[in-house]
Amino acid sequence: VKRVLVTGAGGQLGQAIFRLHKRYPEWQFHFTGREDLDITESEAVAAFCEKHDINTLINCAAYTKVDQAESERAAAYAINAEAVKDLAEVCAKRNALLLHLSTDFVFDGLQSSPYMEGDETWPLGVYGSSKLEGEYMALKHNPRTIIVRSSWVYGETGHNFLRTMLKLTKERDTLNVVFDQAGTPTYTGDLAAALLHIAADPALEGKYGIYHYSNEGVASWYDFAKAIAGEAGHSCDIRPIRTAQYPTPATRPSYSVLDKAKIKAAFGLEVPYWRDSLRKCMEKIK
Ligand SMILES: NC(=O)c1ccc[n+]([C@@H]2O[C@H](COP(=O)([O-])OP(=O)(O)OC[C@H]3O[C@@H](n4cnc5c(N)ncnc54)[C@H](OP(=O)(O)O)[C@@H]3O)[C@@H](O)[C@H]2O)c1
Repeated sequence: VKRVLVTGAGGQLGQAIFRLHKRYPEWQFHFTGREDLDITESEAVAAFCEKHDINTLINCAAYTKVDQAESERAAAYAINAEAVKDLAEVCAKRNALLLHLSTDFVFDGLQSSPYMEGDETWPLGVYGSSKLEGEYMALKHNPRTIIVRSSWVYGETGHNFLRTMLKLTKERDTLNVVFDQAGTPTYTGDLAAALLHIAADPALEGKYGIYHYSNEGVASWYDFAKAIAGEAGHSCDIRPIRTAQYPTPATRPSYSVLDKAKIKAAFGLEVPYWRDSLRKCMEKIK
């Protein structure tokens, strides 16, 4: 029987896994938020896993403030890298699967065709570097690690672009949104379902390693904003601007579309088109 610990369960992905976990009624789930279990407290994590005999750890905890990370390097590395090393060591001792999340921000975005798992990483900021270091730690310290890199994650709850755009396009007559960064939005419901599907795989041997998962298709932030406002029926005039006109502390990759061939082949996953998933998510919000 699977005994699953989901850390960072207060975040948007953790909440999405919570919403889906009843699909696996025979599994035992433990959902811990930062206040229940801080992943930087390695002894507490080890004790929790021991007490509940955890054999699958899905780490949804992360330092995700991309711009703030530029001035909080130590905090970003403590959560995204050092704590991940400790989680991996706990999993290794228990022969447990570590399902860990990473990001398209490990790439520099200079490519113009979808990124494969083996493509060269070159993070542009502290957040991306700390997540890349976390990948190394997770793989190095536990032989049973699966890393899923995702991108532009949004859902019904939590801090995300969809919820920000719903608010802004309702309040404002005009809104400027960058159109020179291309990637793929990813619905937390789809990502959560993919993670549980992987955890359920009866033959993980030989499948450990790094995978990419986002929704299907390509969009700019401008396209994403237009689609959100359109679905919501908000008449805000959304205008395309360049990244240079909207400076932020952290540099983002200008192209970060992920190739999903590997995860589809290894786990038989079907990946929904981003606009279909956006519609599904917005129907749930309504
Ligand atoms: N969001 C995206 O666009 C995106 C894109 C690609 C990959 N990812 C990756 O996907 C994963 C899930 O991200 P998300 O979007 O769900 O992020 P999120 O909504 O920011 O959730 C992260 C959660 O981790 C918690 N946390 C932070 N430090 C912790 C600690 N020391 N111990 C325990 N919990 C801690 C946070 O709590 P507080 O709120 O209290 O800090 C928050 O609830 C992350 O690994 C992220 O890097 C996200």
